[in-house]
Amino acid sequence: MNILAIETSCDDTSAAVVNERLEILSNVVSSQVDLHARFGGIVPEIASRKHVELVNPVIREALDTAGLDFADLDAVAVTNRPGLVGALLVGVSAAKALSFALHIPLIGVHHLEGHIYANFLVNPQLEFPFLCLVVSGGHTDLVMVKGHGLYEILGRTRDDAAGEAFDKTARVLGLGYPGGPVIDKLARQGNPKAVRFPRARLDDTLDFSFSGLKTAVVRHQQKNPDALSVEDVCASFQAAVVDMLVDTAMDAAARTGVKRVAIAGGVAANSGLQDRMRQASAENGLDLTCPPIKLCTDNAAMIACAAYFHILRGETNGLDLDTTASQALV
Ligand code: KG4
Ligand code: ZN
Repeated sequence: MNILAIETSCDDTSAAVVNERLEILSNVVSSQVDLHARFGGIVPEIASRKHVELVNPVIREALDTAGLDFADLDAVAVTNRPGLVGALLVGVSAAKALSFALHIPLIGVHHLEGHIYANFLVNPQLEFPFLCLVVSGGHTDLVMVKGHGLYEILGRTRDDAAGEAFDKTARVLGLGYPGGPVIDKLARQGNPKAVRFPRARLDDTLDFSFSGLKTAVVRHQQKNPDALSVEDVCASFQAAVVDMLVDTAMDAAARTGVKRVAIAGGVAANSGLQDRMRQASAENGLDLTCPPIKLCTDNAAMIACAAYFHILRGETNGLDLDTTASQALV
């Protein structure tokens, strides 16, 4: 079975082909980062227009790389929620056209489910239940994955998402957009103990809060603009985010007794987070699955992977498949 997937929920146009052995035959990602960087963030209308230009060539490239033609496809999957509606519509329209023309099933996939399923691309034997820390530009959720498509949210952010904290802090430090990769890089050359930024823990819950941390960085920079190098500020900020994420994930594992953990989403590409998750998982006797960077950030292979399990359950969509801007996983 060859599944073509399309992902256009934000600022990356991506198409991939994954087969029933969960092998990635191609995973093409065309980033619009340079286009949006000068505005300091994503401009939705520009993203939509660029997706329109890129979607067909990116699909063509995904097929060429996989050595396949349209006739070799057995299903077409697409991210239909949540995301920028104008951006989602481009991918959904392309997927519907292919489903209609090729007489193949159409599968709409929730973007966060896609992120979680990146873990099956690196570890197809991953067993349930497992705890997944989903950290992206728009979401920060601790999800207990009980079975295919069976999710329980144990904790979530009450304000900014982890990726948003990286992006906003980078803006304050004049590091441009997106903030995560540049802070990650600078943090490696800085001292994580240079300044102790606050680590919020919310009562007895497994929820997160990052807005106070961002404010603490702003205040620190206003009061002592030249006291520390930007590398030290980045390292100290990242250490606080990583502590909050890893400590809460480990707390959730201890409370639930789960033995397997995974991470997903753009912020899961962070080298500090990956290192600390490896270390904490080993200390607590937990098996960790951790996707490589290109499967953490937005890509269509993860959408194809999630779609494969929908197909096994007989869950396909009609041509009335719609887009939704915001929708929780459960
Ligand atoms: O999952 P993703 O690619 O798109 C969304 O679904 O939002 O996540 C994008 C977010 C951005 O906030 C970006 O700054 C962050 O992931 N990010 C990182 C890293 N790479 C991307 N954050 C920290 N460290 C990174 N290496
Ligand atoms: Zn994403």
